[in-house]
Amino acid sequence: MSYISAVKRLIHNKKAYVRTFGCQLNENDGEKLQGLLSAMGYSLTEDPEEADFALLNTCAIRENAEKKTFGAIGVFKHYKEKNPGLVVAMSGCMTGEPHVLERLKTVYRHVDIVFGANNIEALPRLLFQHLTENRRVFDTDYDETVVTENIPTLHASSFKAGVPVMYGCNNFCTYCIVPYVRGRERSRNTEDILKEVRSLRESGYKEIMLLGQNVNSYMGGGEAFAALLEKVSDTGIERIRFMTSHPKDLNPQVLRVMAERDNICKCLHLPVQSGNNRVLASMNRRYTREKYLSIVEYARELMPDLSITTDIIVGFPGETTAEFEDTLSLLETVRYDAIFSFIFSPRKGTPAEKMKDVLTEKEKKANFERLLEVQNRISGEINKTYLGKVYRVLCEGTSKTDPFMMTGRTEGGKIVNFKGDASFVGQFADVKITETKTWNLQGEAICR
Ligand code: SAH
Ligand code: SF4
Ligand code: F3S
Repeated sequence: MSYISAVKRLIHNKKAYVRTFGCQLNENDGEKLQGLLSAMGYSLTEDPEEADFALLNTCAIRENAEKKTFGAIGVFKHYKEKNPGLVVAMSGCMTGEPHVLERLKTVYRHVDIVFGANNIEALPRLLFQHLTENRRVFDTDYDETVVTENIPTLHASSFKAGVPVMYGCNNFCTYCIVPYVRGRERSRNTEDILKEVRSLRESGYKEIMLLGQNVNSYMGGGEAFAALLEKVSDTGIERIRFMTSHPKDLNPQVLRVMAERDNICKCLHLPVQSGNNRVLASMNRRYTREKYLSIVEYARELMPDLSITTDIIVGFPGETTAEFEDTLSLLETVRYDAIFSFIFSPRKGTPAEKMKDVLTEKEKKANFERLLEVQNRISGEINKTYLGKVYRVLCEGTSKTDPFMMTGRTEGGKIVNFKGDASFVGQFADVKITETKTWNLQGEAICR
């Protein structure tokens, strides 16, 4: 890490701006990139116009994510005209796409430094090279067998944090760009993970989320993730969440450990993508609707209060409206607490990019609206059952619209708003639910 001190000697009183797009894993990378910048002596700013170093840590999951990023990167050309000393950098999943790299090289010539989602620790070296040699530096190379530990991290929150357990993905779902840009699966050592969780706990953190594109294939799968969960639970940290679980790899032992341990939240994000077996096969998901429903049934048997959420893709190539209706009926059967739904977006180089559509964009949008309608009704109905009950809520902050309203989450991940003041933030409170809506709950704190 000697490049950190080398850069530190070169810069004085400089400000850095970092903006991260995408999932929690990318957020975690963003926190490490901020940690590295801070170790190099930069102070961090939320205002890109006053920055001397600006980094966009990007996401490639859907086309609109990429469009947004190219828009944002364009703006830095103007900032650079005003401040020629500004260093502009780009990292994250988009830089793992060959066509994006080409565009950065030839069109977005104001971007000085480019690195990947898998070599974030290269930032100090690349920045040093850029500052001393005054040239553009591009480096997205990495060793797929190595997991780099001990990168300084600047967490956005002082009470909840993500803790990666594995990187990459081997599943190659036919619509998904992640395996191409994040590379093959590799797991962190259990001891390194436990050390991080213990140190977060000692610093006052209340909640952690174990992160991976498929946490169930931690250390190659089987019962390894269940064993890890037990050990993380033994650290005594108050709340443990994890995501994402691929249904084909969810070992029943994980559910048993969840049920047994009080500090593992009864909350499962289990992306189904579609309720139709032909579509699931075409997506290369490698489970059936029946297999998925049997996991849900077993999980609920063990944990009657379990919250279940999911991801759904509408308009996958070849999906007919009749097949889409199987997804609607699955929503009625499972009754998810919440869903995250997306209209299929073709990604360059993935098998689904070349598959033929049977529905028009307009028909896909109509199906998407039907999906939301069904889920809104179900979420509203489930939320009504919360009325009058008391839930333990971890207060996460002040409501954006009302400074006297606090917002937090139940163990099941439901958002609860209640009256309070800043002293609640980062603390647990027991909140009695007095009103329910489709997306959140309203309540009164009865004790802390
Ligand atoms: N590893 C996680 C998902 C990561 S991506 C998993 O396997 O569940 C998050 C979600 O984005 C996916 O679950 C999927 O619903 C959606 N998604 C991924 N690629 C997509 C695409 N090309 N178009 C639309 N949605 C997509
Ligand atoms: Fe993408 Fe599938 Fe891997 Fe999830 S499991 S990251 S959807 S390829
Ligand atoms: Fe996006 Fe990469 Fe995450 S594509 S969703 S930032 S793994």
